[in-house]
Amino acid sequence: MKTSAAICRGIGQEWSVEEIVLDPPKTGEVLLRLAASGLCHSDDHLVTGDAPMPLPMIGGHEGAGVVEEVGPGVTGLEPGDHVVCAFVPACGRCGPCSTGHQNLCDMGAGIAFGRQVDGTSRHHAQGEDLNLMCLLGTFAHHTVVNEASCVKVDPSYSLRTACLVGCGAVTGWGSAVYAAKVAPGDTVVVVGIGGIGSSALQGARLAGAELIVAIDPVEFKRQKAKEFGAHATFASMAEALEPVRDLTRGLMANKVIMAMGVGRGDVFSQAMDLTAKLGRVVVTNIHPYAESQITISMSMLTGWEKQIVGSLFGSANPRVDIPRLLDLDRRGQFDLDALVTRTYPLEGVNEGYRDMREGHNIRGILVLNEALAAG
Ligand SMILES: NC(=O)c1ccc[n+]([C@@H]2O[C@H](COP(=O)([O-])OP(=O)(O)OC[C@H]3O[C@@H](n4cnc5c(N)ncnc54)[C@H](O)[C@@H]3O)[C@@H](O)[C@H]2O)c1
Ligand SMILES: [Zn+2]
Ligand SMILES: [Zn+2]
Repeated sequence: MKTSAAICRGIGQEWSVEEIVLDPPKTGEVLLRLAASGLCHSDDHLVTGDAPMPLPMIGGHEGAGVVEEVGPGVTGLEPGDHVVCAFVPACGRCGPCSTGHQNLCDMGAGIAFGRQVDGTSRHHAQGEDLNLMCLLGTFAHHTVVNEASCVKVDPSYSLRTACLVGCGAVTGWGSAVYAAKVAPGDTVVVVGIGGIGSSALQGARLAGAELIVAIDPVEFKRQKAKEFGAHATFASMAEALEPVRDLTRGLMANKVIMAMGVGRGDVFSQAMDLTAKLGRVVVTNIHPYAESQITISMSMLTGWEKQIVGSLFGSANPRVDIPRLLDLDRRGQFDLDALVTRTYPLEGVNEGYRDMREGHNIRGILVLNEALAAG
């Protein structure tokens, strides 16, 4: 069939929205009609080259839609099912999946190649094969993905906002709840208030944090942070240091969650300075692939027993936590709708990323099928 998709063809180039040829699903795969896709910062790392990926690649890894057709051997899904695409597949059988770490599923290794499990491609344009961001390629009206990348959800949830639990909402919420292990009474600092940071603020609030501090250079982000649960906001970690010392009577923050657009090794020591004895810094933001050095006081790491942990997909399990976040939203405990600043058609993908870079959006969303997204 023919459909259209936004393709990254070269570092520094705009997304190219093109007609593509899509093959039918093979064994274990499904054809999806996409309703909406969030504009996560991670796709922008493709364009800037911070995360080198095999190009040309269809962008998008935060999608939701409806199953149109299933390939041979698909047992868990049928046409008409509503699904959220998990940006890491969860096969359910590998070591990490079977020990409660679906975010680290061995199938996720394929993300670096952008190809289906068998190494071939269902997506083609201009006579060449196309790779898929996170094995998904949700900046498209249709895509073919492995069933391991799909989590079936109740059709009563809005697909317009459900796309956000495929990455940003779970990543941020889980960064606070699972990776940071925020506990009642904690002081939590969230650095960077985009889709991830706004979800981390909500996770910290739900987990019982007593004092929540948000840091972002953009005034609009600091205002929004207060709506998501922040008690105090600052434009930079350096500006926050003395106020956080005062607010905590010198104890500092139990948890610091890093959710800047692009991680920066040169300011990482400031995150460590904000951290309490036995405190934890969670590194959720992606640093440029080429960056290999940070500077921190190792004696304070030892002397105050600080911890640094990385977190992928909020250290969550897609099959459990995607439906969980949708439920929390329905019960009014997590606000997905409030994360959406603006929507765009597929052709508006470059405008959406411009708005993200200029600090206008908490999250922009591509509405790929108005009827499905509204239903
Ligand atoms: N680990 C994971 O599983 C995972 C998943 C999704 C996204 N990410 C990464 O998380 C990061 C955030 O993603 P997003 O979609 O929320 O991005 P975003 O662009 O929507 O938000 C980033 C925010 O950081 C702010 N910022 C920039 N420089 C800053 C600084 N020096 N100090 C404080 N704030 C600063 C920006 O103003 C912006 O508000 C990105 O690096 C993204 O790739 C990681
Ligand atoms: Zn993402
Ligand atoms: Zn697995």
